[in-house]
Amino acid sequence: MKVLVVGGGGREHALVWKIAASPKVSKVFCAPGNAGISEQATIVPIKANDLNGLLEFALKEKIDLTVVGPEDPLTRGIVDLFESKGLSIFGASRKAAEIEGSKAFAKEMMKKYRIPTAFYEIFDNQKEAEKYIRKQGAPIVVKADGLAAGKGVIVCKTVAEAIQSVRKIMAEKIFGEAGDRVVVEEYLVGEEASYIAFTDGKAILPLASSQDHKPIFDRDQGPNTGGMGAYSPAPVVTKEVHERIIEKILRPIIYGMEEEGRTYRGVLYAGLMIYDGHPKALEFNARFGDPETQPVLMRMKGDIIPILEACMKGTLSQHQVEWDKRASVSVVMASKGYPEDYEKGKVIRGLKDVSKMEGVFVFHAGTSLKDGEMVTNGGRVLGVTGLGEDIPKAIERTYQAVKKISWDGVHYRTDIGQKALCWL
Ligand code: AMP
Ligand code: GLY
Repeated sequence: MKVLVVGGGGREHALVWKIAASPKVSKVFCAPGNAGISEQATIVPIKANDLNGLLEFALKEKIDLTVVGPEDPLTRGIVDLFESKGLSIFGASRKAAEIEGSKAFAKEMMKKYRIPTAFYEIFDNQKEAEKYIRKQGAPIVVKADGLAAGKGVIVCKTVAEAIQSVRKIMAEKIFGEAGDRVVVEEYLVGEEASYIAFTDGKAILPLASSQDHKPIFDRDQGPNTGGMGAYSPAPVVTKEVHERIIEKILRPIIYGMEEEGRTYRGVLYAGLMIYDGHPKALEFNARFGDPETQPVLMRMKGDIIPILEACMKGTLSQHQVEWDKRASVSVVMASKGYPEDYEKGKVIRGLKDVSKMEGVFVFHAGTSLKDGEMVTNGGRVLGVTGLGEDIPKAIERTYQAVKKISWDGVHYRTDIGQKALCWL
């Protein structure tokens, strides 16, 4: 079969890599892809949010299955569009993807279906939001309602900072119309984990647990990024916590979406805060996590295609996934300046050396080819991912690979996976 993967980051490289390994797949395309992805797939120069361009391509090439990576095309209704033309596509429908597209909607769903989460209020009036913040005090969290490329959440240590954040979002419109409404919510303490599951609207098939590292610098210092590294499994998700996540968070949200006439099929990502063994939902995403997908798919055994198909057909309860017992760690190597403005076009050295290392794969996020050389072309450039018998060994192997790779101004965290060690 012919598969089209939509997107061009590290997550999509991991998806392409896993899909290309399926015996059912004869050809993989990726739009818009990146230079690393071009080693496993044919790159198609169509942007991920050019829905009509993608549709035209899929019809012309007679694509058998399209798999969507990023949230933008999902919230714009790519799944509805493809299905209306009889094409098979893996992902959440427009109405289902609203769970990520509107934080206010997600919080109202959590309240209605009694899912543990931070308490909150929703405001479309700046003055009311400010009044509430003064009443609640700090620390407090201010969230733009709509999509803001992962930047719409501001964790505020003081009331003044929270009030300024509301002003920036609602008056200065730093995130555009995503800031027409804000969610102001309780600050939660605990350890974060990412929990991603396949679902066909009823059955739930969880992926291995993982943990992201959002802040740019070691020891969680500095501003949040899309994610600077991840590892799997996350020991904070004990067997007991895992059961609580399924029963108290995933099952009720998937049931609730069905009740609301928004049947959720595809992959659902729950961002969690876990305190004393009790998980609360911070957010839901209608897609695979990035970078979490990289270490998670490194550990996934077997063919991913039948599972993607089962999510769309409603036959997921007949499937299981086996996970590699080994642990995996993914370290994001980023450009100087990220997550603000960053440099591009720097020549990347050392990739050949690393390609000879066993148990290591370098997923590309922002790369391109220039005069036959691999150069940087994004904020997050590579996700160097390694397997090891346990987390310490996976950390060791991954950083051995990271140290072989360089470019002018490269930046990466040196502590990815360290949080897992206190559980061992
Ligand atoms: P979100 O996109 O909602 O997951 O938020 C991005 C990041 O902000 C999360 O990964 C947390 O680190 C942090 N965050 C979000 N909501 C809260 C909260 N209620 N309490 C503490 N931290 C939060
Ligand atoms: N790594 C966080 C996310 O994918 O949203």
